[in-house]
Amino acid sequence: MIKNKVDYLYYLEADRIALSKPKVPSFDLRYKFMNFLFPDVLWEFQKTLRKLEYLKNATSGPAMKIVYFFVLKKYYRLSYKLGFTIPVNVFGPGLSIAHYGTIIINTGAKIGANCRIHANVNIGTEAGHASLAPVIGDNVYIGPGAKIFGGISISNNVIIGANAVVNRSITQENVAVGGIPAKIIIENILIDDVLIRATEILKMNINADSLAGMPAKELNEFLKNSKGANSR
Ligand SMILES: CC(C)(COP(=O)(O)OP(=O)(O)OC[C@H]1O[C@@H](n2cnc3c(N)ncnc32)[C@H](O)[C@@H]1OP(=O)(O)O)[C@@H](O)C(=O)NCCC(=O)NCCS
Repeated sequence: MIKNKVDYLYYLEADRIALSKPKVPSFDLRYKFMNFLFPDVLWEFQKTLRKLEYLKNATSGPAMKIVYFFVLKKYYRLSYKLGFTIPVNVFGPGLSIAHYGTIIINTGAKIGANCRIHANVNIGTEAGHASLAPVIGDNVYIGPGAKIFGGISISNNVIIGANAVVNRSITQENVAVGGIPAKIIIENILIDDVLIRATEILKMNINADSLAGMPAKELNEFLKNSKGANSR
């Protein structure tokens, strides 16, 4: 959870790497103009979500309340536009939302670092309950159409296959689950093939700018081969 400005900047950087976005200086007018013509609304949403989390958790006073109000307004506007019901303080750093389209998450859910999430996903409570939402570990890939609900937990390094209905805890790591109800369909999976572990890249002190735009598998192979040769 974002508790201060340092956390806020860390989450933003991890999200940027997870989304494979280039680092753009704030005075880059060409980027600003292109973004005005063809706005990158997904990245805009993630940045707004993180700003809202920072303002909500770590600031106070009347001036910040006014800023909070305007950021909240932008967050609602983007949420409606993209089809998202994504509450604050649910995702850890390194979030990567793959596409716009319905994503509904309960406020009580907790999802760890480096989550890659697709469209038509619900993460909620059991029907009729107000609480008991899933707790999901780090490096979890949530495929399109997945439904995950109840007071369950999901381990680190798990792939939730397309259209899976997950209603029981997944206690094993490095597995893919799928089907209705979801069962383990593949063991010993390599999570690096499907998502970017942005928080690990930040720890490695790699110049992540040269990696922008690379898909997960390619990027992780590059990191394995370079073994830090690209360090700052
Ligand atoms: C779970 C997943 C990652 C496994 O992919 P994979 O490693 O290529 O596995 P395979 O396709 O070889 O499937 C292995 C077995 O699991 C089954 N399986 C695969 N995906 C499944 C799913 N979503 N639900 C149920 N069973 C599934 C296969 O039928 C196969 O079973 P079999 O051995 O009895 O024939 C993949 O199927 C998936 O759901 N990917 C999501 C794709 C995605 O997010 N795309 C982006 C869209 S924008």
